[in-house]
Amino acid sequence: MDKDTQRLLVRKALEMRGRAYCPYSHFAVGAALLGKDGTIYTGCNIENGTLTPTVCAERTAFFKAISEGQREFEGIAICGGHEDREPDRICAPCGVCRQVMMEFCHKDFEIILGISEENMVVETLETMLPYGFRLDEQM
Ligand code: THU
Repeated sequence: MDKDTQRLLVRKALEMRGRAYCPYSHFAVGAALLGKDGTIYTGCNIENGTLTPTVCAERTAFFKAISEGQREFEGIAICGGHEDREPDRICAPCGVCRQVMMEFCHKDFEIILGISEENMVVETLETMLPYGFRLDEQM
């Protein structure tokens, strides 16, 4: 993915933090997922008073995309931090979200950990989930 596209995804992920529903943790996360055809699917974290139904920003974006018929992906930008401040460090995806990526993405899928449009760390699914489990590779 080129640098401009990475910056665009980070910008959208930062914007999506404004939609986060996080009254319990006050930790706002935004994500922007790029489909192979160029469509961008955004997401935010959505918390719940009983805690376990909480869904992360990354999975919100993936489930929106899958339910719209998108099945091929290039990369995702993730930005998170306290809801009252701009991010000052990277926010890495949780293990559950990495496993969802594993279900739908190839090993070179880009995971862009954004602090700002100028400051980001770019990883891949392979580096962030080594030896990950894929059922279709087990049978
Ligand atoms: N969260 C995400 O949305 N994505 C991540 O990558 C890490 C954590 C959310 C879940 C919860 O609403 C809040 O951040 C604190 O864990």
